[in-house]
Amino acid sequence: MAAVDRFPVGASLTLDDLAGDVHPHLARLRATEPVSWLPALGGWLVTAREPALEVLRDAEAYTVDDPRFSTARVVGPSMLSTDGDEHGRHRAPFAPPFQAATVRDGFEAWTIAEARRLAAGSAAELAAAGQADLRAGLAGPLAVSVIARALGLVDDDPHRILGWYRAISAGVEGVNAGRDVGDDTRRAVADLRAEVDRTVAEATGSMLAAVASDGSLTADEVFSNTAVVMFGAIETSEGMTANALAHLLGAPDQLAAVRADRSLVAGAVEESLRMEPAATLVDRYATRDVVLAGVAIRSGDLVTVSLAGANRDPAVFADPDRYDVARPEAHLQLAFVKGPHLCLGRHLARLQTVAAVDAVLDLLPEDVVLDGGPSAANVRGLVFRKPAAVPVRRGG
Ligand code: HEM
Repeated sequence: MAAVDRFPVGASLTLDDLAGDVHPHLARLRATEPVSWLPALGGWLVTAREPALEVLRDAEAYTVDDPRFSTARVVGPSMLSTDGDEHGRHRAPFAPPFQAATVRDGFEAWTIAEARRLAAGSAAELAAAGQADLRAGLAGPLAVSVIARALGLVDDDPHRILGWYRAISAGVEGVNAGRDVGDDTRRAVADLRAEVDRTVAEATGSMLAAVASDGSLTADEVFSNTAVVMFGAIETSEGMTANALAHLLGAPDQLAAVRADRSLVAGAVEESLRMEPAATLVDRYATRDVVLAGVAIRSGDLVTVSLAGANRDPAVFADPDRYDVARPEAHLQLAFVKGPHLCLGRHLARLQTVAAVDAVLDLLPEDVVLDGGPSAANVRGLVFRKPAAVPVRRGG
């Protein structure tokens, strides 16, 4: 039977459907084709939580290590593009500085102060102009400054870092579309490489110097993994914070509950990760013929996991489309995946988003609302999902 007959919902979906209001499409897929063939992706899409976990946990059957993985072609092999022992070698020197206690002791106070500084700027803008955008004023700049600080970069000018980020992302997109890497991207890679080498040499107390002194990675590998850490952090953390603020400010009853009991902030952030994981699709490649949830997958096939699909699986999450800051099972969400590629930066990411939400609750007026109602923060994106802006004004 042709794939279009076996997987009619998958066959009907376009990239635009997946980038826009994706959740109703994911619900339809999950109900009848939880492992479906999507011609638009040229691969399988997994939308139920159980098979998603099976793929993410079994790196022998479903690997990231494939020439089609474009990031590795721009910055070189890293923990994100390797599996097995090689993956362990790339990841090990970066693991200790990203542990929960190390992140808390090293960065919590600084991150809270930085979030409050930025939120105070948004509060001033709101007072002066009657409107502020919490993505541009808080979520974005916080994401850049936190990762620059964590790595210990000698030159932590956010504009420079964002310039590298944009040029390297454009290079990855170009490679995905079959083009050459391009001169701008090559220049950005060379500049970032020089900054990493300089940080290792001069900032002896920095995370990068510690990673390099471990001795298990070459200078090229210190660079490629640093690029992955940096760019893994910027886009996703901005999205995570923007989504969390949009969810909370767009749900007055939930916001009132959090204002009344601030211990609910962490739950509000976790629930936002469940509803709208900032990185929503992750790719794997089948290393052999396998059967997943009764579907035969061929060796070499692309297998994409929809984290947003898994996170609204009604088998695990009751009334899954409801944003509930006190949801007891929210911690079962998969925004940071599971298995060997479990997000290295998850503690730092949670820390900064909680700090941003706390700063908004503390420093913006109590009657602050989303300007335009809940739909004002219209989340979009095929792989990375976030609203174009989180516009706020005073309510009443
Ligand atoms: C401080 C911020 C962050 C840093 C430094 C960071 C860093 C990383 C790194 C280095 C990896 C690769 C781990 C490996 O392959 O072994 C990773 C994986 C991942 N991260 Fe993060 N990350 C951050 C924030 C986030 C956020 C906010 C999200 C989403 C809400 C996210 C989602 C993911 C996902 C889905 C993966 C798995 C990718 C895959 O399996 O293909 N990360 N992260």
